[in-house]
Amino acid sequence: MNREDFPMLKQGYYYLDSAATSLKPKSVIDAVVDYYENYTSNAHRGDYDLSYKVSEVYDGVRESVRLFINAKRIEEIIFTSGTTMSLNMIIEGFFKNKLKAGDEVLITKAEHSSLALPWLTLIESIGIKVKYMELNENYELTFDNFKESVTEKTKVVSIAHITNVIGDVRPVKEITSYAHQLGIYVVLDGAQSVPHLKTDVQDLDVDFLAFSGHKMLGPTGIGILYGKYELLNELKPTIVGGGMNIYFNGLNEYEYKELPDRLEAGTQNIEGIIGLGASIDYLNKIGMDNITKHDQELKAYAISKLKEINNIELYNANSTSGIVTFNIKGIFSQDTALYLNKHKVCVRAGSHCAKSLKECLNISNTCRISFYLYNTKEEIDYVVALLKNDNILEGSL
Ligand code: ALA
Repeated sequence: MNREDFPMLKQGYYYLDSAATSLKPKSVIDAVVDYYENYTSNAHRGDYDLSYKVSEVYDGVRESVRLFINAKRIEEIIFTSGTTMSLNMIIEGFFKNKLKAGDEVLITKAEHSSLALPWLTLIESIGIKVKYMELNENYELTFDNFKESVTEKTKVVSIAHITNVIGDVRPVKEITSYAHQLGIYVVLDGAQSVPHLKTDVQDLDVDFLAFSGHKMLGPTGIGILYGKYELLNELKPTIVGGGMNIYFNGLNEYEYKELPDRLEAGTQNIEGIIGLGASIDYLNKIGMDNITKHDQELKAYAISKLKEINNIELYNANSTSGIVTFNIKGIFSQDTALYLNKHKVCVRAGSHCAKSLKECLNISNTCRISFYLYNTKEEIDYVVALLKNDNILEGSL
């Protein structure tokens, strides 16, 4: 799908690590360069044409993001540095003030550290309980797993829509509908889902959503915090400074602005925001449903081909997103990745920042292939041929 749009691919890499970060199309690169070459200035801070222009583009991207996830109001879209910052802001700025000792937060052992760790810190600071919902035999979270974990003390369920190692697509709408009947908040990590699935926050009805630009063809260092307006209005800024206050004075008095400015202290990542706007335009042009279908086709094809390898251990053959996690029996995952690297194949090996998943998998390190719209079946054939090669078995890497 449109491989010629991605300059990196001209170098002959087999890039299979898009769950870590995606490649960037020329249109995104051009948008960032255009800002630097032709209209560099700060947004909402200058009274001159260049600053008006950048402010207009900046506000336009907020609207593009709103439309992309179908948020109700533009003030519900907050620019951050990425999923990690968004989740930290949600948990520190909202839930730390909302929850009390003994309140239960449901997560799973498959969550990324950016979601798990901010909750773990609330155990120390305010005495919440973090409970791990069971995963099924495929390491996936089902609606029943969730339902069975709920008690009268459950106040929040906080999960990835798609996990970054198993790649299961969670039944978020079902979970949210049940959770809300019981007054339970839903916090969604969309880092792996928003780039790959059409996301409609009103349909999912989640309370908060976090995602990153760099996994959806955009630049690094830009992300989004979405929250329902009434809730976001209660989120206390965890970073304060310029651009977010109305006034402060020598009597130590101050007042913050309304949303979204209140949660965006300091000069923002303007080139990142502009690049994110270009990446959304690009994704919209391709169509999110086409991207999901392409991921699913590649995943199904990869599983069928990888199964031909006798000594392979596949950990997530059943999940439908474009993530394949495996090991070659008897070979350390990093060694497999290094072997593939010698053949210009980029895959990730290790725990993939989901460090508690090993308690379910009984293995701490795996190799992970992750697809995006520019990957092809030919690339899968190439990797499978490399993995079938006896050299890898004999350790002659
Ligand atoms: N969260 C990214 C990954 O899964 C970095 O690789």
